[in-house]
Amino acid sequence: MNKLENTFYIETFGCQMNVNDSERVAGLLEAEGYRPAESAEAADFVFLNTCAVRERAADKLYHSLGRLRKLRASRPGLVIGVGGCVAQLEGRAVLDRAPQVDILVGTHNLNRIPDLLKRKGEGNRELIDLDRKADSFAVPASVVAHSSPVRAYVTAMEGCNHVCSFCVVPRTRGPEVCRAPDDIVSEVELLAARGYPEVMLLGQTVNAYRFGEVDFAGLLSRVHAVRALGRLRFTTSHPEHVTEAMASAFRDLDRLCPSLHLPVQSGSDRVLASMRRGYTVAEYRERVAMLRDRVPDLALSTDIIVGYPGETEGDFQASLDLLEDIGFEGLFAFAYSPRPGTTAVRVKDDVPEDEKGRRLQVLNQQQQASQSLRNATRVGSTDTVLVDTVSGGGRLSGRSPHFRIVHFDGPASLLGRLVEVEITGSGPNSLTGRIAPSGSLTASSATPIL
Ligand code: SAH
Ligand code: F3S
Repeated sequence: MNKLENTFYIETFGCQMNVNDSERVAGLLEAEGYRPAESAEAADFVFLNTCAVRERAADKLYHSLGRLRKLRASRPGLVIGVGGCVAQLEGRAVLDRAPQVDILVGTHNLNRIPDLLKRKGEGNRELIDLDRKADSFAVPASVVAHSSPVRAYVTAMEGCNHVCSFCVVPRTRGPEVCRAPDDIVSEVELLAARGYPEVMLLGQTVNAYRFGEVDFAGLLSRVHAVRALGRLRFTTSHPEHVTEAMASAFRDLDRLCPSLHLPVQSGSDRVLASMRRGYTVAEYRERVAMLRDRVPDLALSTDIIVGYPGETEGDFQASLDLLEDIGFEGLFAFAYSPRPGTTAVRVKDDVPEDEKGRRLQVLNQQQQASQSLRNATRVGSTDTVLVDTVSGGGRLSGRSPHFRIVHFDGPASLLGRLVEVEITGSGPNSLTGRIAPSGSLTASSATPIL
């Protein structure tokens, strides 16, 4: 088998960290001479990069594996790999449930995939690597195959040192490991030089970053000092690590975009304590007030879990009230899902599923109504949009500095460019507009990349 003829296809589930991990795997495979395929059906190697955060996310793996088993019946040479969070969490149990899996790697061993594929080609059968000590940063920045030509993800830290009762991430990704600031900065330099107009720094609790003397605000200012950098963003932040210095960074660093994802999880102190989130609702509000004091128009988004064990109607109402008070621009709401190995799994999951569904619906409806009202106030204003999507029929879309989605008509050549857009319409989840008549198409620092 000539490996240069081999093609691969990666299916990624879950968060941006998983997307970035898949980009590293893709880059490593391409560096070894493998070519990306358009679909699983056209690939010799299919890799599923999995998410374990909710049960439904984990179930998707087995659904995809069922499909791949059928596919292999017609293509006997197909190699199937599973990696990431479910692999790390369930280990060999994945193979018991799905013996069609050839290669199994954890969250720390993704860089072993080319090697494991080679061993598979040599007839080896035991192709499992779940070692937690392996160094997944050991993929050269120049190799990473970024999936977006516009927004490049850069991992700043991995893992999490928190102990939220509901969350499986500390088990799947291990404790925090921060990457050296010099490595992060040189990756950003490389991306900026290649013409990526936006960089997003990633970490499960990215604002807990610390490496020697360099804290998160220090990292932001070092990255921001990269002259060719266009826009800078980061995700996800934990309220406990929101500092004055971080708030000031939003004010002082002009290419750091004014939007922040700050998961609160619940508006009830009783539930927050039981979740072991490490803050009260009042403390969360104080952090938001501090941020807004520095940057009054900072756009905030959040995560809420409904139906956490013991959540009463009153607790749920407190979440609705908090959402309304803070005025979030975006919300990801989840029904509580018990996860193996977490502390909450030992407590009875006592909110019935249909009640969780009802709460989710009420929460989302309230949020949609408030987003509709807020977005309507933007009609008539002008926003600078970084074009990240070109659809058929001359339709473009992109993000404003506040991370609002804006749709408008224009030529495909604007992909990766900053465009002044006059906002003419709004909905709950996006804005529509037209290129401002002043015609000022601001060339971003990006040279066209495609
Ligand atoms: N700090 C991480 C959190 C990862 S999980 C980050 O990078 O965003 C993302 C969100 O999923 C959490 O904020 C939480 O709202 C939700 N979540 C996590 N575990 C959950 C569970 N067991 N049930 C329901 N939602 C959950
Ligand atoms: Fe999960 Fe809490 Fe960490 S939500 S990723 S344990 S901050």
